[in-house]
Amino acid sequence: MKIIRARDYDHMSRQAANIISAQVILKPDSVLGLATGSSPIGTYRQLIEWYHKGDLDFAQVRTVNLDEYVGLAPEDEQSYACFMRRNFFDNVNIYPSNTNIPYGLNTNAAEECAHYDAVIQKLGGIDLQLLGLGPNGHIGFNEPAEFFTKGTHKVSLSEATIQANKRFFEKEEDVPRYAYTMGICDIMQAERVVMVVSGEAKAAVVREAFFGPVTPQIPASILQLHKDFTLVADEAALSEC
Ligand code: GLP
Repeated sequence: MKIIRARDYDHMSRQAANIISAQVILKPDSVLGLATGSSPIGTYRQLIEWYHKGDLDFAQVRTVNLDEYVGLAPEDEQSYACFMRRNFFDNVNIYPSNTNIPYGLNTNAAEECAHYDAVIQKLGGIDLQLLGLGPNGHIGFNEPAEFFTKGTHKVSLSEATIQANKRFFEKEEDVPRYAYTMGICDIMQAERVVMVVSGEAKAAVVREAFFGPVTPQIPASILQLHKDFTLVADEAALSEC
């Protein structure tokens, strides 16, 4: 595990964007695993800026997103599909047909999850997976549990996650209760994993996840065992380590 200590959110975003840029420059047809949440927005912003300067080309890049809310259409403002278009895809030259996100409207969970794992496999696996960190240690929507999950699956969101994510919705009742998420195995099989974490509110969970025991109660802790994991965190997020 490598730790890059950044000064603040903007510095963290540039450092993470540097790693992703190097990946895309060295392997233009990279498969990027992408994340949502407020943490990676600055990273996407930086990549967009470098794309506009002519330093980056995403024409051959393929993407797979970590997760999607069950019940939300890709056109829904709150869907992760919409988040990705707004914050990244619509601002660079990624072909929409090269992007993949679980389909939140598929009511057949088994079918959707098997299909998504097949998509990842067909792409040849993930070259670089970008992650944020949930306040309860979740990655994607892999919530604290008794065991680590393997492939894509449907999860019931924890109360902590509903509370943390309600800020993006008009009212708490609007927060979907279920999501489709890549499993821990999908994430661990990525060649490289880069996590962005910022702010004092995440300091305790960063300490528990990366300086404590590996446990499914803190899903991110398994990343300690990944062969190429880089934590890009700002000083506030590392303040308890
Ligand atoms: C959501 C996403 C996660 C993300 C987390 C943290 O729950 N499913 O992938 O890491 O939010 O979000 P934030 O970066 O806004 O703290």
